[in-house]
Order: sequence, then C-alpha cells, then structure tokens
Amino acid sequence: MQYRRLGKAGMKVSAVSLGGWINFGEGKVPDDEARRIVERAYELGINYFDLADIYGKGGAERQMGEILRQFPRHTLVIATKVFWPMSDDVNDRGLSRKHIMESIDKSLQRLGTDYVDIYFCHRPDPETPIEETVRAMDDLIHQGKVLYWGTSEWSAAQIVEAYEICERYNLYKPQVEQPQYSMLWRENVEKHLLPVVEPRGIGLVVWSPLAMGMLTGKYDEGIPADSRFAREPWAAERYLTEENREKVRRLKRIADELGITRAQLALAWVLRLNAVSSVITGATKVSQVEDNARAADVVLTDDVLAEIEAILGNAPTSEHA
Ligand SMILES: NC(=O)c1ccc[n+]([C@@H]2O[C@H](COP(=O)([O-])OP(=O)(O)OC[C@H]3O[C@@H](n4cnc5c(N)ncnc54)[C@H](OP(=O)(O)O)[C@@H]3O)[C@@H](O)[C@H]2O)c1
Repeated sequence: MQYRRLGKAGMKVSAVSLGGWINFGEGKVPDDEARRIVERAYELGINYFDLADIYGKGGAERQMGEILRQFPRHTLVIATKVFWPMSDDVNDRGLSRKHIMESIDKSLQRLGTDYVDIYFCHRPDPETPIEETVRAMDDLIHQGKVLYWGTSEWSAAQIVEAYEICERYNLYKPQVEQPQYSMLWRENVEKHLLPVVEPRGIGLVVWSPLAMGMLTGKYDEGIPADSRFAREPWAAERYLTEENREKVRRLKRIADELGITRAQLALAWVLRLNAVSSVITGATKVSQVEDNARAADVVLTDDVLAEIEAILGNAPTSEHA
C-alpha cells in the first residue's frame, strides 16, 4: 500500500481507502461478508475508513466501528460526517453549532472511539454562517474529539471563505475536501477545486472513483442482478449511458496491455493527481477490495495517460486538465 499525506498535514492515509456508504449499515451486504471486507482491507494496508452519521442512519458507524475495534486505534484513520437530517427535528440537521456539537458525541458513541481523525461537513449549509460552523469545528479539535476537519461537496468559493475565516481568527483550517471524482465525473475537481486546494495544502479524498462500479466493466453487457445498478436504479441513470459504456469497453485494451484490471486503471488514473490523498472505494465482496487495493502500486506513464484521455474525451478546459 502507498500512503499519502492529507494535503500538507502530517497524517498519512492509504492511497486506496474503504467507505461505508450503502454497503454498510443497511443490511445489503451480509454481516459476515462486511466483516471480511473490512478485515481484508486492513490486512492489505488500508488504514482510512470513511463513514457518515447518515449512512444507514447510524448503522454504518455502528457496524464498521464494531469491526474496527479489534485493531490498535493508532493504526486507523477514521472519518465521519455531519449535515444530513438524522430525524424530523428542526435542529437535527445542518451545520449549526448545536447540531455539530450534539452529532459528534453520537457518532463517537456509535463508533466506539474517543475521537475521529477527520470530521467532514457533509454538504454546505445555506442556513448557517460559515463562521459558526468553522468555530464549532475548531472547538472540537481543541476538545480532542476531532483531529482534522474537512468539507464535502463545498464549492471552491466556500472552501476559500472557510479558510480565510480561519486565517483571520487563528482557527484550525479545513484540511481536506471530499468531492466526487472519477474518469466520468471530472469538471468540479479539475476546473474549480485544484486551483484552490493545491496552493492552500488542502488534500482531496474522492468518492465514487469507480463511478459506482461503472468503470470496472461489470456493466459492459447489461446490468448483473447482484450489482449496485440493479439495487439502485438512480445510480444506473447517472452513469449508464451508451457513450460511457463504449468508453469503458475501450479502456479494456489499455488495462489488458498493462496486465491490470479496469478498476485498477480507473483508480490509478485518479491517483495521478498529487492533490488526491486517497480514493474512497466501496466494496460488496472481498475480491473487490483485493482488486482495488492493488491500484496503489500502478503508475501510469504519460503515454498511457494520453491514450486514456483520447478515449475519455471529457477533459474540462482548464490549465490543470
Ligand atoms: N461525501 C459524499 O457525499 C459521498 C457520497 C458517496 C460516497 N461517499 C464515500 O465514498 C465511498 C465510496 O463510494 P462508492 O461506493 O460509490 O465508490 P465506488 O468505488 O465508485 O463504487 C463502489 C461499488 O462498485 C462496485 N465495485 C467496487 N470495486 C469493484 C471491483 N473491483 N470490481 C467490480 N465491482 C466493483 C461495487 O458494487 P456492487 O454493488 O455492484 O458490487 C461497489 O459497491 C462511500 O462508501 C463513502 O464513504 C461519499
């Protein structure tokens, strides 16, 4: 496994990490397979496990937390998130000081740990001033409940605003942003985020780097019954176009020539960016986590990257693209 710093912070995360969304805490993956997936991930050197309070309404934190408890705490980077409504209560949502302070204690209890390594604001909250949220995050770091804080799906402008408030008042700055990014979902990262996060030393840990499975080639000929697109038709609607299918089919030749799988090709392609600290993958089977973990060893040459670009044909216009 390869380990990368979280932006300019000292803490290192595995270049390939494992997330608990959808596959954990909702009973979709049998408990014993979920346990084997996490244990195998750890064996393969994955140290970063990504959760959120909303995943299975607390269920994913509970399930993964219970499995992770067997490992020495210092060997784990555990992340969770706050924002989405956890009940119908008017204050049980968003990024107010009240919701953040109450949510962290519930997450820590479900996870069975005294602190989380990274606490993410799961979305921007238009109903709370950014300064209120930033001060709550800074307080949690002073209290020792959180080591680093970050944002997820915040715009470049919102990240800059948070960062500047921290500079002005000498508060802990956001250390990481968690955006969606893959061969099929590029614009926000390449065009808007890179110019903002790189100069500030903010790392990126990216979600759905396999486009929810699309990039593995499993949908080349249709939708297998035991697959995410079968279980979550909205995910198929997002990615499963004939154009994307054709691109993924054409990527097979490159992967075959390199002697790797298309999943490894897709993950290594994301990891080509220095700003990316980790690709957060999902898995419903042990074999998937084994396949994905090996992507950390793959280096793509400029020639191969150019071949991939010719197939994708979707580079956003920017100096970084
Ligand atoms: N911050 C946010 O708003 C946000 C949003 C979404 C996700 N996330 C984070 O990102 C994590 C990953 O998201 P994701 O699950 O969508 O990521 P992904 O890695 O793009 O997709 C994972 C799915 O692809 C399939 N798969 C994975 N590896 C495979 C392989 N080697 N061969 C064949 N199929 C493979 C599996 O689906 P099957 O079911 O078909 O087996 C798996 O569940 C989440 O768990 C969560 O921690 C964050």
